[in-house]
Amino acid sequence: MEKAIIGKDLEICRILNGMWQVAGGHGQINSKLAIQDMQRYQESGFTTWDLADIYGPAESLIGDFSKKVEQNFQAFTKFVPNPGPMSNSIVTYYIDESLKKMNVDCIDLLQFHWWDYQDSSYLDALKHLSKLQNEGKIKHLGLTNFDTERIKIIVENNFKIISNQVQYSILDQRPEKIMTPFFMKHGIKIITYGTLLGGFFSEKYLNADEPTRGDLTTSSLQKYKNMIDMWGGWQLFQELLEILNIISKKHNCSIANIATRFILDKSQVAGVIIGTRLGISDHREDNSKVFDLKLDQNDLSLISTITSKSNDLFDTIGDCGDEYR
Ligand SMILES: NC(=O)c1ccc[n+]([C@@H]2O[C@H](COP(=O)([O-])OP(=O)(O)OC[C@H]3O[C@@H](n4cnc5c(N)ncnc54)[C@H](OP(=O)(O)O)[C@@H]3O)[C@@H](O)[C@H]2O)c1
Repeated sequence: MEKAIIGKDLEICRILNGMWQVAGGHGQINSKLAIQDMQRYQESGFTTWDLADIYGPAESLIGDFSKKVEQNFQAFTKFVPNPGPMSNSIVTYYIDESLKKMNVDCIDLLQFHWWDYQDSSYLDALKHLSKLQNEGKIKHLGLTNFDTERIKIIVENNFKIISNQVQYSILDQRPEKIMTPFFMKHGIKIITYGTLLGGFFSEKYLNADEPTRGDLTTSSLQKYKNMIDMWGGWQLFQELLEILNIISKKHNCSIANIATRFILDKSQVAGVIIGTRLGISDHREDNSKVFDLKLDQNDLSLISTITSKSNDLFDTIGDCGDEYR
């Protein structure tokens, strides 16, 4: 397995298991089967989990899982408060809730999300989160879906953040515009989602007709179909899949492997999150092939012959996370 050290005493698997998929909209989750599956991920070396306070039962599943496993694992949650004033007692209350559900004394990485930049209370929240970090309830502080402009403000205010979790894929390379150069200067890492476009980056969609809304059976597929439309549409996406298929045949691996490796090799990327439908579907064996894969210059040039024809998502949407605002 490929690992990365992303902060003091924090080593992760570079493919993280995403738990949004247990929150609904991705099929019915059976918690017993889900925990058995989590143990299989752990045994295969996929030891790092990405969850959130708003992902339904995700934190409690981690809590139950922690009682069954003896080996180390890393669980990253998120704090996604409703907009409003951020007092010490509000922030402490929610972090204590996460600690309790996850059955841990300290959260390995707490990723903070904020909906509304007009309201600068996000700086108050970070002040209280830093205090909780000093008290030992949080090992490292990270962000999710923050743009570069706000992260500059956060850094200027001397908050120590190690990462930002954003959408990053062959299709959406917005982080490279202004975020990556800033992160290189400040030693901040990127953790990515949407790298497989909810499963669109796979043989299943190669030469397939454009799906209708009714064909999109998960919230994730619905979310990323919108991205494909904004990026350039189904026809251009098919051209991209064809190229990825040629490259994957050459390397004897899957289209999903190419899409994951492409992002893992980008500057500042610590890890790629791949959504796991626990107890429903399983791509562990295929995804572990990413660690043996090396893309060459020819592969990258072929991919850019297609991506250069797409719309510029930075111009259309804005910096990372602006799709939520
Ligand atoms: N911070 C945020 O705002 C945010 C937003 C979205 C997601 N996330 C995080 O990122 C995680 C990933 O979610 P996502 O929505 O971006 O999904 P994703 O990882 O792009 O897609 C996951 C889906 O891809 C398919 N897949 C996985 N490996 C495959 C392989 N080797 N071959 C073919 N298909 C494969 C599976 O589909 P099937 O199950 O259908 O086979 C899986 O359910 C979430 O769980 C969450 O932790 C964070």
